[in-house]
Formats: sequence, structure tokens, C-alpha cells
Amino acid sequence: MSENNFDVVIIGGGPGGYVAAIRAAQLGLKTACVEKRGALGGTCLNVGCIPSKALLSASHHYHAAGHELAAFGVKVGKVEIDLAGMMGHKDKVVSDNTKGIEFLFKKNKVTYIIGAGEITAPGQVKVTGKDAKTLTAKHIVIATGSDVTPLPGVAIDEDVIVSSTGALALPKVPKHMVVIGGGVIGLELATVWGRLGTKITVVEFLDRILPFNDGEVSKQMQRILGKQGMEFKLGTKVTKVEKKGKKATVTVEPAAGGKAEAIEADCVLVAIGRKPYTDGLGLDKVGVALDKRGFVQIDGHFQTNVKGVYAIGDVVGGAMLAHKAEEEGVALAEILAGQHGHVNYDVIPAVVYTWPEVASVGKTEEQLKADGIAYKAGKFPFTANGRARSMNEVEGFVKILACPTTDKILGAHIVGPNAGDLLAEVVLAMEFGAASEDIARTCHSHPGLGEAVKEAALAVLGRPLHT
Ligand code: FAD
Ligand code: NAI
Repeated sequence: MSENNFDVVIIGGGPGGYVAAIRAAQLGLKTACVEKRGALGGTCLNVGCIPSKALLSASHHYHAAGHELAAFGVKVGKVEIDLAGMMGHKDKVVSDNTKGIEFLFKKNKVTYIIGAGEITAPGQVKVTGKDAKTLTAKHIVIATGSDVTPLPGVAIDEDVIVSSTGALALPKVPKHMVVIGGGVIGLELATVWGRLGTKITVVEFLDRILPFNDGEVSKQMQRILGKQGMEFKLGTKVTKVEKKGKKATVTVEPAAGGKAEAIEADCVLVAIGRKPYTDGLGLDKVGVALDKRGFVQIDGHFQTNVKGVYAIGDVVGGAMLAHKAEEEGVALAEILAGQHGHVNYDVIPAVVYTWPEVASVGKTEEQLKADGIAYKAGKFPFTANGRARSMNEVEGFVKILACPTTDKILGAHIVGPNAGDLLAEVVLAMEFGAASEDIARTCHSHPGLGEAVKEAALAVLGRPLHT
């Protein structure tokens, strides 16, 4: 095999692409990964999951020092923000992580090619940029991810009107931020800046925040975030955003029509979703089919309509989450190596890293009702959990939904401290096709937040012990 001829060439080094590359190489396939960003890790590591969590952690510490430690009998002096220090923490975490992937590529003998990949023919990828060359491959994988969905008529300048990328690198704490979109990005970044002192107004088109979550979760989170100081304008549409120097005027009106209102802000965050990114890939020339929203169309084995060209991750749609992209990367690599890779799309967890966190897996009550599926629900509040009380973290609940006849778990929804980590046992239980009684009869350590999960499972069976 010549130097530029590979078993697999992956275009895009995000969680989908880099994980597919590592797994393919582990399975003995000669693998290259083409990435144009100049750093591996994609959206997730560079401008997504990791920097946002680094700032969420930093702002959490700041807020706790100023507002929460006194209740534990811990006195601190004057608490100040060192924004440059926070950004430095974020940048170091990002750079350590992206370098870590370069190390993993070397360890697994994945060839890292820096440049933009274009599919010029089936089995051929032309790279332009630093490592310009033409590659040939038995299999080509599109893992080019997603980009910000623009709001028509609103020009993002990453200064006053920002996307998530700009909101992760603001040079000073804004006085008033208008967040357009009450989804995951909007609420996580509103949490970061709200904790640092920014007044937050969230404008959401629909009648509730987190519209993809269980309705009870959305309601509870709106109440909790409202208590934290966020203002919500629900059922509201933005009709205009006008920038004047370092300020912007956001004009909104009820989605159903009505009186317009102008809101002044010094930062506007546009967070209304993400769209597939396929620019410059040459898909039209080789005839790879996209759906009407621009997602690459694939079959059950991640193959596009062009033989030998596959796609995974955000660019194929579904849950636009890093771990979903990773699972697809592993499954595809295994298929290409002749194994039986598979992703269980019914059991993909999703976590919103506000505080408290929101974690969910499987069906919501609304989905079960809409699908006409019978269910029973068990719920347990963190107010009745000893560990949560000792942490002063009593907001929220665990809710488990299960089949009334078989008791099989259909979904779980948690609002609470470390909800994302607590969800993992339910995800595993669902992967094993478990019943709520399986969780209820499993010994959970005391005092632990996990006992709330066990109690919710007991509540499904009608016999909680501590409520
Ligand atoms: P991407 O990560 O987008 O990677 C695609 C890569 O392909 C990019 O690096 C791009 O430069 C490269 N590329 C594109 N075209 C070419 C080309 N022609 N040639 C070479 N390279 C190319 N998900 C979670 O699960 N948890 C979170 O906490 C989370 N937080 C997020 C926070 C924010 C602010 C954002 C924006 C997203 C967040 N996400 C989170 C979503 C997550 O980042 C994505 O689901 C994930 O990155 C998708 O992985 P991917 O590999 O499909 O694509
Ligand atoms: P989102 O789809 O989560 O939320 C967008 C929100 O904007 C929705 O509530 C929607 O109703 C609203 N909206 C749409 N158009 C609007 C308009 N014109 N005016 C006002 N509101 C409008 O998308 P978001 O928050 O941009 O995140 C994009 C993706 O990134 C998500 O799919 C998510 O999966 C991923 N992500 C995941 C994170 C995590 O797992 N913790 C964190 C951040 C992002």
C-alpha cells in the first residue's frame, strides 16, 4: 500500500471522526484523519462541550465562594472575578485535551493530516492546506459535524452579537445578555455569565424552555433558573436586532402576534440550534444525497447513497451530541473491519450542565402519551435525600417511567446535583433491558445521591421508603 493509500480516510477530527479513526486503527485498518481546524477534537473539544464545561466549573466556584460557602460555616474574604484567569483555565483544558488526541493518534498509528478534505471521486480525497496531497481509500467517512444555525437578518459579529463560540471568549462580563433560544446552549452559557453577574433575558419562541425535555423538567428548571435571576420571555419571537456601537437593541413580540417590545443589551447570544456542515466537501460533485435540511443521508450501516462513502456524527442528524457521534464512530469502524457495530438510539443520554443539572434518557411523559404507550411513573425529590441535604442541594427530583405490565424502564429524567452522573446507572439498566425493580433491589451506598434513583425506582413499584 503506497504512503497516500489507506483503508479508511476520515474527514473531520471531532468526536465522531477521531474516535472512528482510533477504533479503525485498533482493528488493523490503515487509517488517516483529515482535519482543517489545526487542532483535533472538533466542535466539542475546541468550542463546545469542553470549554463550556471549563467555564461552568470556574463560574460555579466563583458563585459558590460568594454565595454558598457561608452556609457551611466557611468564611471567605472579598471574592473577585479574574476573567482572564478563567479564560486561561478554559484554554489550558482545551489545549491539553486536543494534544491528548494527537498523542492517541500516534499511539494507535492513525495518520493525522492537517488540511481541508474534498471528495473528488469515490475512493479519492483531495487535501488542501498544510498537508496538501491526494489520498486514496477503500472507505471514506464524512464526519464534518455542524455549525451554528443563523437567525435570518441577524449578523453574528462575535463581538456584541455572538454565537456560542463568541460567548465562550467574551473579554469582559456583559451587563445585560439577551439569549435567543432557551435550549441547551442558551441555558448553559446563560448560567456561566449569570453567575458572573450578567443580567440574563432568555427569549424563547416556544412556550417553554428545554422543549425537548420532559415537560415537568422544563417547568421545574424554569422555576429554579428564575430564582437564580434569569428572566424568560416565552412564546416570543425576535423580529430585529440592531447593533449600535457596543450595544444592541433586540425587538421582540409575542410569537402569536401582538405588541412589540425593545430590549437593550450589551451582548446578544444567538443559540437557536445547529445545522449540518458540508461546505467544500464536494458532495454535489460525487452525488452524495442530503435531506432537505442538509443532513447527509445514510442507511442502517452509515453508508451514503455512494458506495464506499459513509457519514457519522452531527452531519447525519439525530441527537447532536458528542457521545452519540463517538458511538457511531466506533460502530462504523467495526462494520468496516467486518464486525457487527451497532448503536442503540433508544438509549442515548442527554445532560444539560446548568446547576442543578438536567439529565434524561429514553422517552418523556409527553412522548409516551403521544405514542399511546401506557406507563407508570415513580418520582423522588432530593429534599428527602440525606446526602443532598448535607450538600445544601435539595432542588429537583428523579423520575423513572416504566411499563405497567413488564416494569421495563422506558425513560428517566433527573433534575438535581450531579444529575448527569446519576443517570448513568439508569442508562446501563436500560441497555440491559432492566425493570425498575432491578434498580430498586440493587444495594446503593449510603449516604449517596444515587439513593434518590433507587427510591424513584421503588416509587414506580408504589413502595418508596423515604417519602
Ligand atoms: P464536530 O465536533 O463538529 O467535528 C467536525 C470537524 O470536522 C471539525 O473540527 C471541522 O473543522 C472538521 N471539518 C469540517 N469540514 C472539513 C473538511 N472539509 N476537511 C477537514 N476537516 C473538516 N455535546 C455533548 O454531548 N455534550 C456537551 O456538553 C456539549 N456541549 C456543547 C457545547 C457547545 C457550545 C456546542 C456548540 C456543542 C456542544 N455539544 C455537546 C455538541 C457536540 O459538540 C457535537 O455533538 C459534537 O462535536 C459532534 O461531533 P462531530 O464529530 O460529529 O462533529
Ligand atoms: P437547541 O435545539 O437545544 O435549542 C434551541 C432553542 O431555540 C429551542 O428551544 C428552540 O425552540 C429555540 N428557537 C429556535 N428558533 C428560535 C427563534 N427564532 N427565536 C427564539 N427561539 C428559537 O439548540 P442549541 O441550544 O443551539 O444547541 C445546539 C445543539 O448543541 C443541541 O442539539 C445540543 O444537542 C448540542 N449541545 C449539547 C450540550 C450538552 O449536551 N450539554 C450543550 C450544548 C449544546
